[in-house]
Amino acid sequence: MKSHIWYLIVVYVLVLSLEGKSMVSGEPQVPCAQVPCYFTFGDSLSDNGNNNNLATRAKANYRPYGIDFPGGTTGRFSNGRNLVDFIAEKLNFSNYIPPFMNTRGFNIAQGVNYASGGAGIRFQTGRALGQVISMGEQLRNHNIIIRQIRRSMRNNNSATMAYLKQCLYMVEIGSNDYLNNYYVPSFYSTSRRFSTQEYATRLINQLSLQLEDLIAKGARKVATFGVGLLGCTLYARATFETNGSPCVNDINDAIQLFNIGLKSLIDKLNSRYKNAKFIMIDVAQISTVQPPNQGQIISDAPCCEVQYDNVQCVPFGRVCDNRDGYLFYDGVHPTEFGFEGLANRSFIAQFPNDTYPCDIQQLVQLKLPY
Ligand SMILES: *[C@@H]1O[C@H](CO)[C@@H](O)[C@H](O)[C@H]1NC(C)=O
Ligand SMILES: *[C@@H]1O[C@H](CO)[C@@H](O)[C@H](O)[C@H]1NC(C)=O
Ligand SMILES: *[C@@H]1O[C@H](CO)[C@@H](O)[C@H](O)[C@H]1NC(C)=O
Ligand SMILES: *[C@@H]1O[C@H](CO)[C@@H](O)[C@H](O)[C@H]1NC(C)=O
Repeated sequence: MKSHIWYLIVVYVLVLSLEGKSMVSGEPQVPCAQVPCYFTFGDSLSDNGNNNNLATRAKANYRPYGIDFPGGTTGRFSNGRNLVDFIAEKLNFSNYIPPFMNTRGFNIAQGVNYASGGAGIRFQTGRALGQVISMGEQLRNHNIIIRQIRRSMRNNNSATMAYLKQCLYMVEIGSNDYLNNYYVPSFYSTSRRFSTQEYATRLINQLSLQLEDLIAKGARKVATFGVGLLGCTLYARATFETNGSPCVNDINDAIQLFNIGLKSLIDKLNSRYKNAKFIMIDVAQISTVQPPNQGQIISDAPCCEVQYDNVQCVPFGRVCDNRDGYLFYDGVHPTEFGFEGLANRSFIAQFPNDTYPCDIQQLVQLKLPY
């Protein structure tokens, strides 16, 4: 009986230490992260559980989401780690960044993830699916965290600002302003009111104000993500006319107007704020230029069995066995493998146009005149 208990304890400890190992390198001798904190704003490519308790269809808190994640199903829209997780690993954080909706047990001074699946730059975006936390609301949630950090620094405002200036801020938003707004004419009037150029300009102007708000809240190193070629997702190809092309070109053309606008916004902000640095990860470019030696990756079929709307996985539905051989896990979201490829090229650009004007590794190493 006694030895039986010991056996159980040994197994338990072993399992615990294995779990520890499979998280970001947690050994004490690991060098410190180059940035002490990492805050994320965004949508389902970054959400790690913020939507779990919202009344929305945009949530991934059920199987088969998370089947390859050490903590199981968490609300991440993939089989395993997502974009933010991989970047946290590359920054040498000893744990993944907690979702704003559940920071219990985490040191919020290391960063918080505000991203919400379905959310966009515009307040109304994604609301056809139910509740979402728009970019404006995510910025307000950041105020709550800043107040808590300031309190932990004995309400010393200059010390708090000096600390917040050292963090990496990531903004990955805009996809839903297309797929869950402009291209849902039954619910939104934007496509009748604005040409694709007018719409892109409006989105960029609103994002510009949001990024300046972030500067006012202490951000100095900001990595923004362009919108990927959503016209090539399985959802878009199953829902819209492709006219014989592999992708829905109208959607991709509209998105490229946003990406062109984002690039000029980066230039504008970098010349206006000399003590800050903005970069853009060109997700569309990254998905267009594939490395030559990548092998056979299936990019025209989802890994999981998808629902009638060709977006998310069927709860408890079938999944493919070789998940590292697929780009998409469901109808729109990448597999862990797909996220890793994007994170790799965001962190260290593989081709000159992957990032602009520099990559995340160069951004975090930058010495800025705070
Ligand atoms: C993370 O740790 C590795 C291994 O020690 C080191 O080579 C790398 O420069 C570190 N990266 C950052 C961003 O600090
Ligand atoms: C606030 O922190 C700064 C360091 O960032 C320090 O120089 C200053 O004395 C602090 N102020 C108070 C009132 O503690
Ligand atoms: C990402 O980079 C890591 C380390 O450099 C490498 O082992 C991995 O295969 C890369 N993953 C993808 C999907 O490119
Ligand atoms: C990279 O961007 C520059 C400037 O926009 C452009 O002239 C060049 O053709 C691009 N290169 C590739 C490989 O796409």
